[in-house]
Amino acid sequence: MSRIPNGDPVTTGHLRTTISYHHRTKHHFHRYAASPGFMDWATQPFPFRRFEGVELLELGIPDVSTGPSWDSLFGPALPPEEISRESLSRFLYLSLALSAWKQVVSPEGEVVSRWSLRVNPSSGNLHPTEAYLLFSGLSDLAPEGGVFHYAPDGHGLEQRGTGSLDLPDNGFLIGLSSIHWREAWKYGERAFRYCQHDVGHALAALKLAARILGWSVEMVGGVDHSLMSRLLGTHLQEGPEREHADTLLFVSTDGRAAPDIETLEAMAEGLAFQGTPRPLSPSHVPWPAIDEVAEASQTGSLTASLGYDEPAPTIQRERNLLASSLIRNRRSAVSMDGRTSMKAPDFAHLLKRLLPGHCAHLFSLLPQEAETSLVFFVHRVEGLKPGLYALVRNPTHLEAWQAAFNDGLDWENPGSDFADLPFYRLIAADITEAAQRLSCNQGIAGDGVFSLGMISRMTPALQQHGPGYYPRLFWETGMIGQMLYLEAEAAGLRGTGIGCFFDDEVHRVLGLEGDSWQSLYHFTVGGPLEDSRLQTVDPYES
Ligand SMILES: Cc1cc2nc3c(=O)[nH]c(=O)nc-3n(C[C@H](O)[C@H](O)[C@H](O)COP(=O)(O)O)c2cc1C
Repeated sequence: MSRIPNGDPVTTGHLRTTISYHHRTKHHFHRYAASPGFMDWATQPFPFRRFEGVELLELGIPDVSTGPSWDSLFGPALPPEEISRESLSRFLYLSLALSAWKQVVSPEGEVVSRWSLRVNPSSGNLHPTEAYLLFSGLSDLAPEGGVFHYAPDGHGLEQRGTGSLDLPDNGFLIGLSSIHWREAWKYGERAFRYCQHDVGHALAALKLAARILGWSVEMVGGVDHSLMSRLLGTHLQEGPEREHADTLLFVSTDGRAAPDIETLEAMAEGLAFQGTPRPLSPSHVPWPAIDEVAEASQTGSLTASLGYDEPAPTIQRERNLLASSLIRNRRSAVSMDGRTSMKAPDFAHLLKRLLPGHCAHLFSLLPQEAETSLVFFVHRVEGLKPGLYALVRNPTHLEAWQAAFNDGLDWENPGSDFADLPFYRLIAADITEAAQRLSCNQGIAGDGVFSLGMISRMTPALQQHGPGYYPRLFWETGMIGQMLYLEAEAAGLRGTGIGCFFDDEVHRVLGLEGDSWQSLYHFTVGGPLEDSRLQTVDPYES
């Protein structure tokens, strides 16, 4: 038995289970991670979790036609709005709500298929992430307070828990959980990774929505999985569709500290839950490797302090883009045009937004050192030679990467617009084909302006902090992905998260050996090709 710094016991078995899950869920050129290999439409999970026996408190569709600009979210905090039904509605409408329905209509005018999209993206659009709000009372919504499940399909709250919650009027808790089955239905064993990416995207979406309202958000440290589950009510769920509690956040209007563990324990003791989850699928395929890694990586109640200084925020540039509109219109590109380019100053600006120092209020939501730096496949940036580049998000990564990557790389800053950025050219070459091949032969990785691999410090970080750190590495990459999506929109382009890539082939191209550094997530940005056959419908049309 070893111990992580905050004193929680961690068996080496849990560490081994977690690392071996990572290895067994790699995609290889000639062998993909274990999955059903086809879409079993008969068991496709219903897209929305709802609870039987509880009523939906509608939040009402808020007016988001005015508000702060996107770029102002990166300056000093905005004046806080009071917590009310309306502001809570806006908070969720700008983070986890539906953003549109898409539909295919036959020449006869009949709707052939229809699916919803959300403000937060999700691998395969399967949306495993659920959210719960805990507040002590809101006079115009639920005066007694309690634990509420957010239902994006109705943009409302389902009251799950009752009991007196010792929370201030100007603060509330929000917990995220994952239904692993939703992703495993399509992706099999690799699905646990995708669920964690999705948590990261949701974290960034919540943090940015809070920023619009002038609210602060803190990840509550030191909460173990049992306490989190008892606060959210997920401890009562059983079977393959059960939710796995992931993280707990504290939101407040005045930046006060989150309640301490004793207060949270006392609140959990006093809660009574109502309602039962409606089934999502008629039958299921078990994926024991997911259950094992979920259990192994929930050990320990992680607290890690911020690994970098939070500098005073500066807006840097103002493009007068309405934040709410940008956020709600974010979409994934399904294919890229292979032509659109980007100007070097715009690309340099986008890179800045990915750096913890320049975007501290977003990335500091994860109270840990930046563990992920980025390798860019640059295809079409005007004024920058196409090739392989590195953006070093943590200064300590530079030396480590120079030692770990192939010999003979340039490691040269391209100067001019990039002179003040930790951005280095590794090789100048046309690498569109390699980028596409490494991302499971997906054209979007080579046909965009650029694509990238997010390379995280893995085994040393897990040895240092315990296996509970494994999901957090994916959360960090998901948060970077959310920034990429939104900065792509701000630049008039479109992004797409890429969960499918050939892990060790990426490592081989870079010269990485062992598992100290692992590619955890890919992403692409470019000029999208729209599918004109699809119609877009208002998300909450009656
Ligand atoms: C973690 C993650 C992995 C993804 N992987 C891929 C991928 O490999 N290929 C792809 O075309 N799209 C991928 N996507 C995009 C999703 O399919 C897309 O987010 C989803 O269909 C919802 O559409 P929206 O982003 O427009 O809301 C990924 C998205 C996320 C969040």
